[in-house]
Amino acid sequence: MEPEVIVRDSSDALFAEAAERLVAEAQADAAERGAFRIALAGGSTPEGLYRRLAAPDLADLVPWDRTEVFFGDERCVRADHPDSNSRMARRALLDHVPLPASRIHPMDCGRDPRQAAADYARLLRERLPPRDGVPVFDLVLLGLGPDGHIASLFPGTVALTQTEPVAPSYVIRLGAWRLTLTFPVLNAARRVWLLATGEAKADIVRRALAGGTEQRALPVHRLRPAGELRVWLDRAAAAGL
Ligand code: 6PG
Repeated sequence: MEPEVIVRDSSDALFAEAAERLVAEAQADAAERGAFRIALAGGSTPEGLYRRLAAPDLADLVPWDRTEVFFGDERCVRADHPDSNSRMARRALLDHVPLPASRIHPMDCGRDPRQAAADYARLLRERLPPRDGVPVFDLVLLGLGPDGHIASLFPGTVALTQTEPVAPSYVIRLGAWRLTLTFPVLNAARRVWLLATGEAKADIVRRALAGGTEQRALPVHRLRPAGELRVWLDRAAAAGL
């Protein structure tokens, strides 16, 4: 992957710049295309970005009336569970901005992750424009796991090669079910932003961005978006570059 790599001294500085850029992209899309459809990342990394975006000086600039929020993946837990990605996004951002529930689409595994994946795929096909039959996001946010997973596309799982837009995935290492967008959707997006902060991510960031023989070894190496790929790093996560 040939991404644009952005490195800033601290996660605060990184997320401030990323939030401002996100506002600008949302404004441009809303003006030029009448809509801005984003898939939020889960985990802990993006929380700082969401909190910065929720601050009035930036939140007041987002065209929320033309914005629609989806999720890149979800843990199959209750919506109020501390591990829920949609709970994290609500507490950090969505509960603080004027976005109606009708345009916030959390993933919900329900009783059957397979049916839930099919239902979310149908939602994407209804709400997003297609390119070659694949729903196209305007922006997909992703974190990076220490094993090189993105969204819930974990090493050694069948989800890595799924062609449906959304896959259920039982992650043996976690002993848990997940729902995740799949690589056809990630790679069809107009923009993909990969976020990593902290020294604990320095090695996997180095491996993710390394060329050579590892090209196929990590899930993140399958990320080859048709559009823009930006990698947002603080100095600590970029230490191995
Ligand atoms: C999830 C995320 C996952 C996350 C990485 C990094 O549901 O866990 O979607 O892909 O982005 O595991 O997690 P941290 O940001 O917590 O390091």
